[in-house]
Amino acid sequence: MTKIVDLRSDTVTQPTDEMKKAMFDAPVGDDVIDIDPSVRKLEDYAAQLFGFERGLFCPSGTMTNQIALMLHTRPGDEIICDALSHIYWYEGGGPAANAGASLRLLPGDQGRISASQIEAAINPKNEHAARTALVSLENTCNKAGGSFYNLDAIKEIRRITSKHHLPLHLDGARIFNALVASRQSTLNYHGLFDSMSICLSKGLGCPVGSLLLLNEKDYFTARRIRKRLGGGMRQSGFLAAAGFYALHHHVDRLAEDHRRAKALAAVLEDCDWVDRVVEPSTNILVFYPKIKEETVISALERKGIRLLSMGGGALRLVTHLHITDEDIEYCRNSFFEEIK
Ligand SMILES: Cc1ncc(COP(=O)(O)O)c(C=O)c1O
Repeated sequence: MTKIVDLRSDTVTQPTDEMKKAMFDAPVGDDVIDIDPSVRKLEDYAAQLFGFERGLFCPSGTMTNQIALMLHTRPGDEIICDALSHIYWYEGGGPAANAGASLRLLPGDQGRISASQIEAAINPKNEHAARTALVSLENTCNKAGGSFYNLDAIKEIRRITSKHHLPLHLDGARIFNALVASRQSTLNYHGLFDSMSICLSKGLGCPVGSLLLLNEKDYFTARRIRKRLGGGMRQSGFLAAAGFYALHHHVDRLAEDHRRAKALAAVLEDCDWVDRVVEPSTNILVFYPKIKEETVISALERKGIRLLSMGGGALRLVTHLHITDEDIEYCRNSFFEEIK
């Protein structure tokens, strides 16, 4: 049987045996009628980690982002974000369809926009311009290859959004990758955002689940929007237990994923079929081959190595829970064989 090294995404992970045990042992209730104890435990734990009052467990990061956009805006409003944002590229036009909002896309530095760019993009308050209602950041930025924000830059953005009375949302689908790579703690994030989406089903290795972290004043409205979108789940404590387990056991190990992404980057740098490699900051590695993307994908697929196209000539590899040093060695050997 051909060896499979699936580097398409960190979402392909399977729950570990220990995680499955935590799931099977979870006490559950009905989280739509009233409460599921395991969901509540996860929501409270995640909220206090990042200094929020409440957490809302949802099926996906798309839903947590969309709830946040609907919560902070009214139809006709404008949301400021980086041009590479997931909310723009990969959420099915959700900002327009769900919130009725337009996006003001700013050309950032590898997915990071600055306080001065944001301040310059805030619309004047008049009858002609859309009302600027929200600023949304993404950390790490998926499409930019897992880049992360410097904490001082976020603080400066917070200063500007507060000055203009604008809420600030974080798409923190991979926030733990950012924290581990920048050696920061969740404590550093206290008080910086009005809402924050964190994903459990990416580098943390859960089968399903994201949390929207927010404050008490927004909780009821957010819960109602979740219901309207069909995101209320019943015995979801089985899934929440996986998240609780992951937050305790799968965070520190993300450093290994980052080390392996760097190792793969170093190999690709030396391959004659590769034009350019974007140095990975975390677990996402973007590179540009000299030959067609599809040619590389099918040549590597034949060797059992899976990766994704990002469009525009870019290919993406993502390291995760199931990628070992042996897999990196296998890739090293395969990358140096003829790719055609
Ligand atoms: C930055 C970012 N935000 C949000 C999401 C959406 O998460 P989900 O796939 O759970 O809807 C993703 C998914 O890859 C992501 O990379």
